[in-house]
Amino acid sequence: MFSNTPVVYAVGTDYQIFFSVSRSAYARLKVGDAVYDDVVCGILRSAPGLRQITVPQKALNAAGGYTLSLQRIRERKSYWTETIGVTERYYPFYPVPETGNVRAYMLGDAHGDKERTLAAAGAFGAFDFLIVNGDVNESISVRHFELAHNLAAELTGGSRPVVYVRGNHELRGALAEQLTQYIPTQDGNTYYTFRLGSVWGIVLDCGEDKPDDHGEYGGYARFHPFRLAQTDYLRQVIRHAKTEFDAPGVTTRIAVVHTQFPRKQEPAFDIERPLFQRWCDLLGSMGTDVILSAHEHRFAVLQPGDPALRLQTTCPLVIGAANNKEYIGGTGYVFSPDAIRVEFTASDGAAPAPVTLRKENR
Ligand SMILES: [Fe+2]
Repeated sequence: MFSNTPVVYAVGTDYQIFFSVSRSAYARLKVGDAVYDDVVCGILRSAPGLRQITVPQKALNAAGGYTLSLQRIRERKSYWTETIGVTERYYPFYPVPETGNVRAYMLGDAHGDKERTLAAAGAFGAFDFLIVNGDVNESISVRHFELAHNLAAELTGGSRPVVYVRGNHELRGALAEQLTQYIPTQDGNTYYTFRLGSVWGIVLDCGEDKPDDHGEYGGYARFHPFRLAQTDYLRQVIRHAKTEFDAPGVTTRIAVVHTQFPRKQEPAFDIERPLFQRWCDLLGSMGTDVILSAHEHRFAVLQPGDPALRLQTTCPLVIGAANNKEYIGGTGYVFSPDAIRVEFTASDGAAPAPVTLRKENR
């Protein structure tokens, strides 16, 4: 089951708040004096399942909390629908700080393992926002979509923002085409920018990790044009620099992507070199401080020029999720105005030593 605890996803300048309704009910969020309905073209949704309501970040940051209000329905009818009582629950909300250090935790490559993923996250302790960086599960059934929501709900309690990134394993399974109904998107897309306190970020989505015509995909893959659209999107973001990465108060710029695309790859995975080099160049021109990735199931920090890279980068690439027999690992980040501290965590407690990255790409 989807957890009933809401998850507050950061997309653009909004929060997309996802919550599960276990019985037929109308839903609304109260933020300060404003009320946001769960409505589609004038009709309040009533069906059980995962719902979402979008609220402006400014409103929720200022209010410091929100109330989820559910009006239960006895019977949804064409005429004279019968409603029952209203249940309400208040959730405090803590915006990411505008100044000083910002703590973020990134999980990835859970591959269905909830307990070890939570144990790895617990090793970092408190954080200001969470990044869910892909390969949480495959998309075999709607039930497979529950884990990403439930991990985020358990780790944030609905009180801290979450950045969601689609991984390549989320593309596998017959329900992959329905995933975007269960995750945050912007204009239907799984790539977007976000702003959380002093941190600005861009989420990119490489799609699958082999050529579109690889036999493993059985014909469903059309990721080349999807990646080309993101090249255009990167250019568009640069055209709007003043309201994106150059906006007042931004002291850290991050790119978050599941696949560690600048890394050297085995032949079957060595795809899209010119296109991905263009992404590196565009990220460099934005002054990106670090690229946060996962996918490889082991930790690494690759500085520009590292022989393990296949592309030219202008900032460090962190491969920050591990998954092996011994442990599942994630990464804690402490973003400060002039440096980024990278703290690896592992479910069995044996993680590599922290690394401090200087911000030199300015
Ligand atoms: Fe992956």
